[in-house]
Amino acid sequence: MSDNPAAPGIRAPRTAQPAFPIFDPDAAPANPVTLVQEWLAFAVAGGVSQPKVMTLATASAAGIPSARSLLLQHITDEGFWFASLADTPKGRELAENPCAALTLYWREHGRQVRVSGAVTVGPRETAEGDFRARHPNARARAIAGEQSEVLPPIDEMSRLIAGAASQLDGEPEFVPQDWTAYVVAPDMVEFWQAAAGHEELRLRYRREGAGWAKERLWP
Ligand SMILES: Cc1cc2nc3c(=O)[nH]c(=O)nc-3n(C[C@H](O)[C@H](O)[C@H](O)COP(=O)(O)O)c2cc1C
Repeated sequence: MSDNPAAPGIRAPRTAQPAFPIFDPDAAPANPVTLVQEWLAFAVAGGVSQPKVMTLATASAAGIPSARSLLLQHITDEGFWFASLADTPKGRELAENPCAALTLYWREHGRQVRVSGAVTVGPRETAEGDFRARHPNARARAIAGEQSEVLPPIDEMSRLIAGAASQLDGEPEFVPQDWTAYVVAPDMVEFWQAAAGHEELRLRYRREGAGWAKERLWP
């Protein structure tokens, strides 16, 4: 229970701190994308829970922000890829204000990665490959209704999902036109590493010309 009367139940009791991986900013590679790949591979190998789940923050043209969890699909030279439907709140925000921020948090390793940059729509084949690799139920639900719209009555919803499932049975390669692969081209990548005794480390990369400027930040 909380020891903070202003926020009952929020503050967890102190527990022993786990041993965090060592991060040496001076030995970090010149390209931050390489370091994200290294940290992600380490998180996957280390059994971190849901290592590819990231928070995607977007904003409307009026500057109203919104954020949600998504799966990081790939990291390439072009940037950080995710997939979703374009005719959704996030898709509409990206259409009117094509930039985004991402965060990945690997609790077990005390690590956070922040990325921000311009967002572009990837090739149709990438979106198709992503959609076809998804679970059949997820595909049927994406086809059956409008993501983020209010659900119809439950009978109607079941009927729409059953209809979409039978459409997929007859046409297993079907991909809705609206399914979209997006890529965030990073212009800033920041690494945060927890350490014993609250000696956290931060390293930020900023795009500078064809390369990257690296700087340590106060934690
Ligand atoms: C762990 C996790 C992974 C998710 N992955 C995706 C994803 O890859 N694509 C997607 O469209 N929604 C995904 N969602 C759902 C989104 O968080 C969100 O509810 C949905 O995309 C609607 O967002 P919007 O209303 O801001 O457009 C995921 C949710 C969670 C909790």
